[in-house]
Amino acid sequence: MAHLWSGRFAGDPDAELFAFGSSFRFDKRLFEDDVRGSVAWAAGLARAGVLSPADATAIDGGLRALLDRAAADPAFVSEKHGDEDVHAFVERELVALVGDAGRRLHTGRSRNEQVAVDLRLYLKRRVPEIQRAIAGLVRALVDLADRADGALMPSYTHLRRAQPVLVAHFLLSHCAALRRDAARLDAVLNEADELPLGSGAIAGTAYAIDVHALAAALGFSRVARNSMDVSGDRDFVASFLHAASLGMVHLSRIAEDFILFTSEEFGFFELDDRAATGSSLMPQKKNPDPLELVRGKSGRVIGHLTGWLASMKGLAAGYNKDLQEDKEALFDGEDTWIACLRATASVIAGLTPNAAVTTRAASGLLLATDVADYLVSKGLPFRDAHEVVGALVRRLLAEKRSFEDLTAAEWRTHSPLFGDDVSEAVTALASVEKKRTPQSTHPDAVAAALAETKAWLGSRR
Ligand code: ARG
Repeated sequence: MAHLWSGRFAGDPDAELFAFGSSFRFDKRLFEDDVRGSVAWAAGLARAGVLSPADATAIDGGLRALLDRAAADPAFVSEKHGDEDVHAFVERELVALVGDAGRRLHTGRSRNEQVAVDLRLYLKRRVPEIQRAIAGLVRALVDLADRADGALMPSYTHLRRAQPVLVAHFLLSHCAALRRDAARLDAVLNEADELPLGSGAIAGTAYAIDVHALAAALGFSRVARNSMDVSGDRDFVASFLHAASLGMVHLSRIAEDFILFTSEEFGFFELDDRAATGSSLMPQKKNPDPLELVRGKSGRVIGHLTGWLASMKGLAAGYNKDLQEDKEALFDGEDTWIACLRATASVIAGLTPNAAVTTRAASGLLLATDVADYLVSKGLPFRDAHEVVGALVRRLLAEKRSFEDLTAAEWRTHSPLFGDDVSEAVTALASVEKKRTPQSTHPDAVAAALAETKAWLGSRR
């Protein structure tokens, strides 16, 4: 078959090498973007007087007919014609439909800028879908926070009990990270929001294309600064993969928390049967497979980022075929991220908080900071209070007891500042209620944060 560049060659390319270099099996995802880019390009050529009105009309009609055909029959965008890539596919189908006019479409344009415009358009339409999936997970966490209904749990540092918090506070901590992921995607969208067309293969185009009108027609807010840069720039793909990697790191940490907290050892939440799997051998097992897979798949997306950075780093200025590797990394990163967001949301929607267990785990020696704060409230310097309570903890550990077991007299053997009010000051609820800052786990602060998160969800609809 004839390729977009066959004229220069005496014979056909080696079939295996051609197949090795072809990208259509994965870049056919860009079909709709490629056609949209071409519709705008044809209009630009017509405005510049390069295309006759009749040719421009024929091309425009033909391209729109291709879009309609693909919409009606997804199998239309198929590999059966042996096209090298999506750009070759669209041009061949267009010429088949409208004849010679179609052969004028590529005037002044290169696939180097076409693939860049396609990918940017693709991200602009797909990123909002990922952001919706992020919001879906935030919603699942917020619903769980509502169901937890004021329950307390221990927080952990070094995976050792730290201080009591509201279960909702823990859940909102993950929402905070997810909201950063959504914001990071806004930054990726901004980076992608630049028109590459007019750059030609590398040096610009010899036709008087109004690139600003073209940018407006395609929904780009600005035009690229430098045609050589455009030819070899896939930074926006790296930025997307970075956003995806960090997003997957967050999902992995959410998964890890719930793998731990649904285990027999913690028992803080119960996993719904529909979100678990059994063992082929051990009849008692209820495994959190979906969460483990989310944690595992984070490695794969991080791999796409590091792999892509490595692919870019040695490239000479301008387009190099290495850049074709961007698409499989981007598409798989996107698919994996969305699938993991949805799976995680589904698992979390099925969790039942076990308030009795979490509340019990939230009292005991993790109230030590509150005991120290009590002494501070009586005038003792914090460093001294820390020492007094440290000694008290050492004693209680040796005696296998906790603060609530101490008599007033026993308290006072550690410091005369301990009054009768110490026992009510040293409870998990008193601990959270003593917190004062808006980002704290004080129940009022958590209620406000929950309301603010719901408002954010409302604003993302
Ligand atoms: N399939 C190619 C890619 O993805 C399109 C650009 C081809 N450009 C070229 N000079 N061969 O990068």
